[in-house]
Amino acid sequence: MKKFIAFEGIDGSGKSTQLRLLAKSLEIGGLKFFCTREPGGSYVSELIRKILVKRQKENILPLTELLLIYAARNEHLKKKIVPNLKNRIVLCDRYFYSTYCYQILTSNIPLSMLKYLHSKVTNNLMPDLTLVIDIDFEIGIKRSLKKKKDETRFEFKDSLFHKKVSLGFKNLKKTQKIEIFNGNYSKNQIHKNIVDFLNKKKTFNKIIPYHYEN
Ligand code: ADP
Ligand code: TYD
Repeated sequence: MKKFIAFEGIDGSGKSTQLRLLAKSLEIGGLKFFCTREPGGSYVSELIRKILVKRQKENILPLTELLLIYAARNEHLKKKIVPNLKNRIVLCDRYFYSTYCYQILTSNIPLSMLKYLHSKVTNNLMPDLTLVIDIDFEIGIKRSLKKKKDETRFEFKDSLFHKKVSLGFKNLKKTQKIEIFNGNYSKNQIHKNIVDFLNKKKTFNKIIPYHYEN
């Protein structure tokens, strides 16, 4: 059974919506699960999240940002993700590929640094499945700014930054562990596509139902 599932995509792509709908499907299907997010998901990680996502005058150096994300991930992974994986499916809003797209593709930090940190902090723990919601960044940012008032530090970066992040997600290759979903459909249609995919792949030890929202 696949247990660690991460949702990835640009801001406003619809990740949180799809995570919520899938969680409902799991609940109705009688499966035990734990929902979480990054950066955040544990007490200290949520404190670090505030530094990262709150819009502020002072810039954060790229390496500082990467180290803060890994400090948060260290707490979150060891205190929440790993313990919950013992007897639950873990649904996580963002994980490794967000760091790759947002911190590595937009800076001069080499990929080897990310790989080094990831191996030291997580012992190379990767999700069993990463579900990427693909949408153009102009649509995502618009949706995101309509929803959020405060946590907008990344949204207010320039369009070159967003292009790089967005291209990073678009260029992720479909593999056994990465699946890409078109985010331009309605939320219920995307949910159906995700549930169909998971059921077809026999991801869980039973078939899960759809859960549509108005
Ligand atoms: P993310 O977690 O990727 O930032 P959200 O799930 O929070 O995205 O969605 C951002 C906004 O877009 C929310 O207001 C949400 O209701 C809306 N939304 C989500 N999915 C869709 C969709 N498929 N079509 C149109 N709007 C959507
Ligand atoms: P999130 O709450 O998922 O934002 P949204 O709901 O808009 O998609 O994530 C907050 C921000 O954190 C998001 O703009 C991307 C950023 N982020 C990184 O830059 N690197 C990372 O490794 C992670 C996990 C998030």
